[in-house]
Amino acid sequence: MKPRVFSGIRPSGRLHIGNYFGAIENWLKLQDEADCIFAVVDYHGMTTPYDPKEMMKEKYEVVLDYLAAGIDPKKSTLIIQSQVPEHTELAWILGTITPVSWLERVPTYKEKVALHPEYINLGLLSYPVLMAADILIYKSDIVPVGEDQLPHIELAREIAGRFNKMFGKTFPLPKEALTKGARIMSLDDPTKKMSKTGGGGILLSDTPEEIWKKLAPAVTDPARKTINDPGNPEICNIYSLHKIMSLPEQIKMVADSCRHAKFGCLECKKILAKNIADEFEDFRKKRKELEKDPERVQKILRVGAEKARQLASETLAEVKKKTGLG
Ligand code: TYM
Repeated sequence: MKPRVFSGIRPSGRLHIGNYFGAIENWLKLQDEADCIFAVVDYHGMTTPYDPKEMMKEKYEVVLDYLAAGIDPKKSTLIIQSQVPEHTELAWILGTITPVSWLERVPTYKEKVALHPEYINLGLLSYPVLMAADILIYKSDIVPVGEDQLPHIELAREIAGRFNKMFGKTFPLPKEALTKGARIMSLDDPTKKMSKTGGGGILLSDTPEEIWKKLAPAVTDPARKTINDPGNPEICNIYSLHKIMSLPEQIKMVADSCRHAKFGCLECKKILAKNIADEFEDFRKKRKELEKDPERVQKILRVGAEKARQLASETLAEVKKKTGLG
């Protein structure tokens, strides 16, 4: 039996290189060796302020990005979370065994409360319970995500463990899979992670010109004031990106040139901009093709939902039986 993999992304805009190098890179690897389900998690997208008119478009954009990035519907199951209602049904049941104190200590909850003090809702507090349900409804073994999701995966493990203890062994304890780019920082403010809502991100679909427009003003080593000052690549966000996206000899060359003031930050960024543009050249072409074929995309999602519902309903039936719901 192949291991089961689940992961998802909220529909809050087109995917950026943080999503790609933090999560999708591993999805692409895993789809060849595991039984993968990848979702656009629209119910999660409702826990922070959003525009209902934009929701449909945003979901579609993310699915196009998945497919253009190489998620292959012949190998992986692609779903929109709300089309598999078993997720929310299991979330309710898991919510009844999750202490509120576990949820109140989750860092992303505290961050979101600080960010949207006018939008503190029950869905936001129980967000990790729904996420646990997303993972556990498929009895997933592996969850490929970026570093920011680790507290959620830990909580999913705790919830699964508690359920198993109370009602008998049902769920495997899911493990995260991290990439080497598990935390990509914002170009505008490298103390914050790159995000769809916070800005400072390069989208997978950005053209070479757009990539350059974003990279040129990006923050570098703050102590390097002029081109003649030697820089410190280890504290430069651009160098961190080189380490993920450039060839080994380029990484060595840019570090050396920076340390010995052989070139300025703009030259260093030009190499990176070209590497990013080249890396996603095929992506851009494939995405343009997919944009012309919405019916194909709809069909992929219909087939995905059918397959996922079959798996999910089996788990839900087992859970209902064990919890006395019949
Ligand atoms: P979301 O939509 O914020 O992000 C999607 C994925 O991209 C990763 N990521 C990053 N990785 C590295 N550097 C960054 N700057 C960066 N920004 C985002 C995230 O870690 C994530 O893997 N709660 C999840 C969605 C979710 C989910 C699930 C994930 C709902 N249910 C079940 C896995 C399994 C979220 O908000 O991801």
